[in-house]
Amino acid sequence: MRECILSPSLLSADFGNLRAELIALEKAGLKWVHWDVMDGLFVPNITFGPPVIKALRTASSLFFDVHLMIERPERYIEDFAQAGADLLCVHAESTLHLERTLSAIRDSGMQVGLSLNPGTPLNILEYVLPQLDMVLIMSVNPGFGGQSFIPFCRDKIRDLKKMIQEKNASTLIQVDGGVTLDNARELFTLGADVLVSGSAFFGFPPYDQRHRAFLDAIAGS
Ligand code: DX5
Ligand code: ZN
Repeated sequence: MRECILSPSLLSADFGNLRAELIALEKAGLKWVHWDVMDGLFVPNITFGPPVIKALRTASSLFFDVHLMIERPERYIEDFAQAGADLLCVHAESTLHLERTLSAIRDSGMQVGLSLNPGTPLNILEYVLPQLDMVLIMSVNPGFGGQSFIPFCRDKIRDLKKMIQEKNASTLIQVDGGVTLDNARELFTLGADVLVSGSAFFGFPPYDQRHRAFLDAIAGS
C-alpha cells in the first residue's frame, strides 16, 4: 500500500511551548511537522517566521514542512533555507513570477511545494509540475484552523492525482484544512500522500494515541 504521511500543523499547538511540542511529536513517532507562516496580508493572521523556526531547528529532527501564507514569498526564500526548512511551499496566488520563485527555492537547497487556494484551478500547474516535489491542495480558505473541509476539493484531489499520473511525475499531494479522523481514509484513497491536521490532532492528546488513531483510520482498520 502507498504510504500516507501525517503532518501536524503547529497552528493548533501551544505557541508558548513549541520546543516541548516538537519533542512530543517526535516521541509520538511523527516524521513531519507543518509550520503555518502567516503575514497578516495574504491572510488575516500573523504567526511566526524564520527566527522562530531557526531557534527550534536544533530541538527537532522532524521534517520541517513550511507552508508560507505570505505576500511575495520570494523575498524570504533564503531566510527560510537558513532557518532549516526542509520543504518550502508557496501560494500560487502570492507570487507574480512563479517559475522564478520555484527555481529559487530549488536553488536554495529546499524541496519545492506549491499551494493552491480552494478556488484556484489546477491548470496553473500545467508547465511547472516537473519542478514540484509537492502540491498542497488547500481544502479550506487559508488563515485559520478549525474550519470545515470544502466538499469540491475531493474532485480537485482526484483530478490532480490523474494529472500527476498522466505526466508520469512523482509529485506528492498534500491536503490541508478540515482533515479529521472521519475523512482521512477517503482523502488518502482519492490521492493524498500527506495529510495536514491542526485542530483534529493537537486537540486530542496524548499524541502517540492520536497518531495511531490517524494511521488506523487511513488504513481502514
Ligand atoms: C490554514 C492552515 C492549516 C490549518 C489546518 O490556513 O494552512 O494548516 O492549520 O487546521 P485544521 O486542521 O484545524 O483545519
Ligand atoms: Zn497549512
